Amino acid sequence: MSTLYVNTKETAGHINPELQGHFSEHLGRCIYGGLYVGENSDIPNTNGMRNDVVNALKEMKVPVLRWPGGCFADEYHWKDGIGPKENRKKMVNTNWGGVVEDNSFGTHEYMELCRQLGCKTYINGNVGSGTVREMSEWIEYMTFDGVSPMADERKANGSEKPWRVDYFGVGNENWGCGGNMIPEYYANLFRQYQSYIKIYDPEKPICKIACGANDFDYNWTEKVFEGCAKGSGSWPQNHLFMNGISLHYYTLPGDWDIKGSATDFDEKDWYRTLRKTYCMDELLTKHSAIMDRYDKECKIGLMVDEWGTWYDVEEGTNPGFLYQQNTMRDALVAGINLNIFNKHCNRVKMANIAQLVNVLQAPILTEGDRMVLTPTYHVFRMYNVHQGAELRASTMDTKKVGLEEENMVQNMNESASLSEDGTVNITLTNLDLNEANELKIVLEGMTDVKAEAEIVTGGMRECNTFDEPDRITAKSFTGLTVSGNVITLTVPARSVMRISVKE
Ligand code: AHR
Repeated sequence: MSTLYVNTKETAGHINPELQGHFSEHLGRCIYGGLYVGENSDIPNTNGMRNDVVNALKEMKVPVLRWPGGCFADEYHWKDGIGPKENRKKMVNTNWGGVVEDNSFGTHEYMELCRQLGCKTYINGNVGSGTVREMSEWIEYMTFDGVSPMADERKANGSEKPWRVDYFGVGNENWGCGGNMIPEYYANLFRQYQSYIKIYDPEKPICKIACGANDFDYNWTEKVFEGCAKGSGSWPQNHLFMNGISLHYYTLPGDWDIKGSATDFDEKDWYRTLRKTYCMDELLTKHSAIMDRYDKECKIGLMVDEWGTWYDVEEGTNPGFLYQQNTMRDALVAGINLNIFNKHCNRVKMANIAQLVNVLQAPILTEGDRMVLTPTYHVFRMYNVHQGAELRASTMDTKKVGLEEENMVQNMNESASLSEDGTVNITLTNLDLNEANELKIVLEGMTDVKAEAEIVTGGMRECNTFDEPDRITAKSFTGLTVSGNVITLTVPARSVMRISVKE
């Protein structure tokens, strides 16, 4: 039997709701068909946004949505996506399948989607092929409440009042698709571009995010921090150049050439994938250690604004659309990572799984007017109790499991938090393919507790399909035994759980 201790009384950090953030790029059927079908579609919609998808996402709780890319961001010219739709420019989406982008989803549509979802906005600007002026005018267009060329144009396009831009990314993957830059060059560009992200309303500051590293590229973080972390030191006082720096890490069972199938995999692939997903913990620890040297007080957030599984695309689909199925393995990837983010919440202020609908590790898949909620969706829905809660320190004894020496992996992970209504929520995973785990949970600081739980579990390759959409869902779990402040249970193999405790 393993034991999990939770210190229920002392806070160990604040869990920003944005740790459960999302990402929607102009890629494949994420925006077009997935989120947005246009006002004239037969698919029920509100101002062009699919009602079924928006309702499901509201239930899951999307705290923030990143847009328009990804690699697309550094080719996107925002002025092509405003004004009457029939006049909007058509362009080639060179990164993603070479398809025609008709710009019918632009700034106004994105803001409308965020309004419907009730989420914060995260716009990613264009550094790779854009200009400082273009970026600064976009900010003016979106956020200035006065008389100016851009504000006037926004009003003429139907939005009298400015919107709130919560986060603004200065370029995406500028070490790769965003311009193939070296970190010193990007650091200089970042200093310049961010100077023109004007904060028109001090009550509504924009959190400026620098392009950060790809997975283990610690040199990028070091160099960008060396160049930009200190702020201006002059006017305005204490003004930081950056409020956040991104990090991208994808979980691939194989490598970039042959990634592996989303659904056709064996036990070894299972453990290899999950071992690789655990690298997130090492990445956060090591990138944070660099940041700590420049920013001890954690004023600058580490924003993991792309993460999740990346497999070979489903057979017969456009390779540029990155459409993949989602199984119980993805549920484990989601559960493990969300627990890791919670435990790093003093430094990690946002994380955005890639991507929201129909692309990579998507919570939702659509086909015409049909929609499927994936195992990843159910894990996010179950974990949303952590959004905005206070982290509680927790430790659990675990063991290594697996089939090959080089791919042995920790069998379980967990995190715990206290929400505003006094509930202690514990989320945990058991990735063991065969063995259930006896677990004793000790709630230090509580005396007589009541508890209820939910579970997402299923077969190794099990997934939800359009014909069988409910094979894997979150179900109530009744196997808890409670005595005083101790809960005992058997955590099934291949499962993700939430246990909620009250005194
Ligand atoms: O999410 C798909 C792509 O992965 C993004 O466009 C890019 O930033 C990353 O390489």
